[in-house]
Amino acid sequence: MELEVVQCGYCQSGQIMSAAALKDTPKPTDDDIDAAMSGNVCRCGTYQRIRAAIKHAAGV
Ligand code: FES
Repeated sequence: MELEVVQCGYCQSGQIMSAAALKDTPKPTDDDIDAAMSGNVCRCGTYQRIRAAIKHAAGV
């Protein structure tokens, strides 16, 4: 919410579940995030904001 990632919200349940799977990767790189999130499609194209939010949540 802080980074205003969501637009329509349609993809967010899958995005959040995939992002949660990164909990065992304390400082995820762009490649780590891309690999973890690759099964999710966002029709709103929020990929850059999703990546930023994951890094924000991980404290990177
Ligand atoms: S936020 Fe709309 S599909 Fe991802």
